[in-house]
Amino acid sequence: MIYAANFKTNHTRKTTKDYIKKLQEKIVTKKTEDSVYIFPPSTALDHFEGDFTVGTQNAYPAQNGAYTGEIGVEQLEEFAIKTILIGHSERREVLGESQEIVSAKFAYFKEQGFEIIYCIGEPLEVREQGDSAVMEYLLAQFEGIDTSYEDLIIAYEPIWAIGTGRSATVEEIASTHEALKKTVQKPLLYGGSAKPANIKEITSIRGVDGVLVGSASLDVESFSQMILS
Ligand code: 13P
Repeated sequence: MIYAANFKTNHTRKTTKDYIKKLQEKIVTKKTEDSVYIFPPSTALDHFEGDFTVGTQNAYPAQNGAYTGEIGVEQLEEFAIKTILIGHSERREVLGESQEIVSAKFAYFKEQGFEIIYCIGEPLEVREQGDSAVMEYLLAQFEGIDTSYEDLIIAYEPIWAIGTGRSATVEEIASTHEALKKTVQKPLLYGGSAKPANIKEITSIRGVDGVLVGSASLDVESFSQMILS
């Protein structure tokens, strides 16, 4: 299983350091086949060593240059960061990243040999239209994306389940993952209100290869509990 923590705009440089130290102590007993990812905010990126991978939540598709407020590959290389989240719904919806921008980022970071966790997910109004509308929406988020890229993990995160405390149901996750796996044969994570109380249920679903966790990952006790569940 893959357990990935997306801190979003939470935690500082100091608290991230403390968190990672504690996490490392707690996960010494994790199953060797399980892998752990942490995506702290950009200011907390650093060269961390341990049985986990630190990735960036975002970066601009350039080595460096005049992109005010962004970080590029040069800034990531300082900390040997080679893993990136692309296509998160908050970047699509809040930061206005179109499929064109998202796919350009994907192409660039693929070219740079990054491991990519590529996020897709539908809004509530699409979910309410039923399974075929959901699949149509999700497949459109693969436009311009090389789904055969070897270092690719997909994260399915229904927008209506993110940060709401209301996870998708087992049936919704199972049927969506099964349908997605027909198109993309890559590790597939579920994200959206995954927490200690539902982690076993979620990771037991066929077609779920791991979880991408927001809120419940912010507390190291809670995230390590999920990893060790
Ligand atoms: P929550 O776990 O807070 O619902 O967030 C999920 C998410 O967006 C992870 O990327």
